Amino acid sequence: MDAPGHRPDERDDSPVPYVFPPWADLVPKVLPVATAIVAGVAIFVIWFWFSPKHTEVGYAPTQPVAYSHKLHAGDLGIDCRYCHVAVEKGPKASVPSADICMNCHTVVKHDSPKLALVRESYANGTPIEWIKVHKVADFAYFSHAQHVNKGVGCVECHGRVDQMETVRVSEPLSMSWCLDCHRNPGPHLRPKDQITNMGWAPEGDREQLGQELVEKYHVSPPTDCSGCHR
Ligand code: HEC
Ligand code: HEC
Ligand code: HEC
Ligand code: HEC
Ligand code: HEC
Repeated sequence: MDAPGHRPDERDDSPVPYVFPPWADLVPKVLPVATAIVAGVAIFVIWFWFSPKHTEVGYAPTQPVAYSHKLHAGDLGIDCRYCHVAVEKGPKASVPSADICMNCHTVVKHDSPKLALVRESYANGTPIEWIKVHKVADFAYFSHAQHVNKGVGCVECHGRVDQMETVRVSEPLSMSWCLDCHRNPGPHLRPKDQITNMGWAPEGDREQLGQELVEKYHVSPPTDCSGCHR
């Protein structure tokens, strides 16, 4: 009457103790499938985030609103922190919501069709779907505050944003790029009150000023793996 594979006497008679539970039989069947799924997800994640786009110099997606940094940060001279309010406070620089734009655009160009999405977002609270330009791999830790509060200016990592109609990636965001600066940060430092001044240039010798600022701000960036891979 016993179904095959279900003999109650099997265990007792067995000379070797029964080590694996019955579901262990499933492992060889499930494992290849699970491996394939994990590999598939990994390939997708790597393809989606790490490869060409977000870390590749030149990546400059067309945004839903034709917002120009050249006009606003360059010609009008609006400070980066007016919009990227969190940049000195935490990991993210933050992208502004429509109410920041409407500080001006309730008056300036208030009926421009180019601002239709901004007005809509302001009115019903649906965020504008800005396309992310820069992205560091999730397994590497990056924080804006830790950089700008030690005298690393936006221009060191983002280039002349104040001259860009459309933001483009200007540095490779690769591990060796991070490390090159971490090994010798001096020449990349500036006085903290010049963080957002894209046109700043040191009076006199940059090497020497760099050395002074390294000491003044107690700068020692991590070069050990756990510094960035936490
Ligand atoms: C009036 C508001 C405003 C000002 C001022 C401003 N930005 Fe932006 N910034 C935005 C908006 C909106 C976006 C998202 C759309 C885009 O990428 O163009 C953005 C995007 C960016 C990005 C790309 C974000 C990403 O997805 O990777 C960088 C980098 C950036 N800004 C840097 C700067 C710097 C540096 C300054 C100062 C020189 C500055 N911004 C001034 C509004 C502003
Ligand atoms: C401090 C004021 C100010 C803020 C804040 C501001 N803008 Fe502007 N914006 C201007 C001015 C001034 C112009 C140029 C008007 C002109 O050409 O005469 C302009 C022009 C524009 C234009 C072009 C409009 C057209 O019809 O040519 C767009 C699009 C725009 N802004 C988007 C934005 C967005 C998006 C934000 C928020 C992230 C923003 N602006 C924040 C002042 C501002
Ligand atoms: C040491 C290099 C470095 C400096 C300095 C730096 N950034 Fe970034 N920025 C990055 C990296 C790397 C990313 C991508 C971060 C991520 O994937 O989380 C980024 C992303 C951004 C973004 C996208 C949105 C976000 O919150 O991550 C904005 C906006 C931005 N930066 C603005 C600025 C501004 C404004 C400054 C100067 C006040 C600045 N950054 C200084 C490296 C830098
Ligand atoms: C242009 C120079 C420069 C670049 C590029 C740069 N860093 Fe840094 N980094 C610094 C400086 C300066 C500090 C501040 C060190 C300190 O706090 O003493 C720092 C600090 C850090 C810290 C440690 C903060 C803390 O206090 O624990 C981390 C993590 C870090 N950086 C990650 C990165 C990553 C990831 C990248 C690349 C995506 C990167 N950095 C690119 C200059 C740079
Ligand atoms: C200053 C920050 C920083 C330090 C220190 C650092 N890494 Fe990385 N690492 C990164 C970043 C950022 C990436 C992502 C690069 C990319 O997306 O192209 C990365 C990527 C990697 C990768 C993925 C493969 C690749 O090259 O993209 C490995 C593996 C790795 N790091 C190992 C290490 C080891 C081992 C150490 C210590 C010897 C180390 N890292 C130290 C920032 C750092």
